[in-house]
Amino acid sequence: MNYTKCWLAYPTICREQERTLTVHSDFDGPVAQNGVKELTLGLKGLYDMGLEPVTENGADASIRLVRKDGIHPEGYAVQARGGKAVVASSGERGVLYGIFALLRQLQTVQCAWDDLDWEEEKTPSNPMRMFNHWDNLTGDIERGYSGQSFFFRDNEIIIDQRTVDYARMAASVGINATVINNVNVKGAAVELISPRYYKPLRDMQEIFAGYGIDLYFCIEFAAPILLGGLDTADPCDDRVKAWWTDKAAEVWQALPGLGGFMVKADSEGRPGPFTYGRNHADGANMLADAVAPQGGKIIWRCFVYDCQQDWRDTKTDRARACYDHYMPLDGQFRDNVILQIKNGPMDFQVREPVSPLFGGLKHTNMMLEVQVAQEYTGQQRHVCYLIPWFRQVLDQDLYCQEGPSTVADLVSGRSYGNALGGMAAVTNTGDDPNWTGHDLAAANLYGFGRLSYDTSLTGEAIAAEWVRLTYGKEPKVEDTLTDILMKSWPAYESYTAPLGIGWMVNPNHHYGPNVDGYEYAQWGTYHRADWKGLGVDRTSRGTGYCQQYAPKLANLYENLETCPDELVLFFHHLPYTYVLKSGKTVIQHIYDTHFAGAEQAAEFLRQIEELEPLLEPEVYERLHARFSHQKEHSCQWRDVINTYFYRKSGIPDAQGRKIYA
Ligand code: GCU
Repeated sequence: MNYTKCWLAYPTICREQERTLTVHSDFDGPVAQNGVKELTLGLKGLYDMGLEPVTENGADASIRLVRKDGIHPEGYAVQARGGKAVVASSGERGVLYGIFALLRQLQTVQCAWDDLDWEEEKTPSNPMRMFNHWDNLTGDIERGYSGQSFFFRDNEIIIDQRTVDYARMAASVGINATVINNVNVKGAAVELISPRYYKPLRDMQEIFAGYGIDLYFCIEFAAPILLGGLDTADPCDDRVKAWWTDKAAEVWQALPGLGGFMVKADSEGRPGPFTYGRNHADGANMLADAVAPQGGKIIWRCFVYDCQQDWRDTKTDRARACYDHYMPLDGQFRDNVILQIKNGPMDFQVREPVSPLFGGLKHTNMMLEVQVAQEYTGQQRHVCYLIPWFRQVLDQDLYCQEGPSTVADLVSGRSYGNALGGMAAVTNTGDDPNWTGHDLAAANLYGFGRLSYDTSLTGEAIAAEWVRLTYGKEPKVEDTLTDILMKSWPAYESYTAPLGIGWMVNPNHHYGPNVDGYEYAQWGTYHRADWKGLGVDRTSRGTGYCQQYAPKLANLYENLETCPDELVLFFHHLPYTYVLKSGKTVIQHIYDTHFAGAEQAAEFLRQIEELEPLLEPEVYERLHARFSHQKEHSCQWRDVINTYFYRKSGIPDAQGRKIYA
């Protein structure tokens, strides 16, 4: 199948045919070789120039890839001046990232090769920068909104040019690890760690390794029963320990250099240590000990909560679950275990406070999990550029120690000197020709990688960069698309669930408005709206969730005077007539944001229509179709939410706009 090149299209800057540059490399491994290939492609596309490797006279080469101690092996120092460039690092991955940075810079400034006058030095912000794919071996993708898997089909592994191009895209934004299968390990996926799959997995692993990407799999905690024929998966049982130790030895022998395993245990019906009366340190450490002799890591997901709650029970609070389960285990996990924690305490809503567990754990490796697959943010049919949201998450200070304590500091390992940590994103890719369903959703994939490599970047800078790399330099296209991207997350938030409450979606598939969709269900996701007001009391008078934060944040959220408007219903149950900091009542805020949000969606479509003459017809068609749908669907959101709250409260819109009473 044909597919787009996304941000690696290298659209022409100016033609300098007849010219051939030379490149000399101190490195001769596959990663550096792929770097040279990428340079060749890039220079051909941008300038129609050739590139020739030279083994002798390295000093005279136009581009020199230089080994330099003192630079982080995944960092780089690039200098480009007077038609010559030096890309230095102590490792091949760093050189590859430096090459991508050089190609990015040429496109950013849009100058002739000889005119580039630039230098940049970078050290990655995070040790691990990871994509998580929720691909099933059957070929479908859990929460996938852009076609089928390009890793698996009919329980077989697919290896083709797309595997290579995927690796190039990931490496180009600094991704150094990937988990290829769904956290809910089902069917044949249980057998990924069986001889039947080793050969194709080895082929895939070699491709990824050539781009500096470590391969990981999700495994099934009950594998000793399902694959090993044991009658238990108890992590404290010696037979189980021996089974995993032997299995790890077998897997790593077939796949040397494998990164490790990811585990979703005791979560939404998955098996785990609780079945045997053990805790999650018992479970994770048993696996960690099994993979440690192979140099493997265990990434243990912390998405553990009671999904069989009684909605009538107002004391149990799903938001508390993650912290309640894992805080007592702080300091008990092995060094090769990393706890992967979702950004918020619930589940990838358009707005949530950050998980208090980030501020709690002091002696445990941790990693931030975000979702660029737009499960709750428009499913890649609405535009919703999430990087400004992730930026806010990273910047949130947890005030948990004297030294640096933002989420960015904590997950990178900086705060407490942990060697392991980082960021992972549930990805939004599939086999659609444009990879991500919505063309603009590729900005989230790109942006996550860029942000995880350099957490000092802003959402706006990344958006502008992505637009230029993808569409070339055309001021109107650039301004319009950057503007739409930057307004898209606030717009989506404004016409969906208000003030941090979340969850007003259709159950199961999570698309479209349904205010009571989860209200009487077992999932622990309630808004508690009645005729007087709505919101969940998570203060010390309510579920006490607030108190999971350090005192400074706990007080901020606990007190209505200081609790930010955008999260106020997450933390407080308020009357519709309560006056927010904005000066509006809760009910008027709901009406106003929903009218404004739908108007914004209509404006997006108008802006896209103005780009028709400037975009390739098929790109325009795809964008036009998605933005038309968004416009219509945002009206559905507006009317369902406004009508629901008008009917509940009986309070009319102060501006007298149309509400379907
Ligand atoms: C959400 C999502 C599931 C997913 C789960 C997880 O609940 O809807 O599809 O399996 O998150 O993160 O494990």
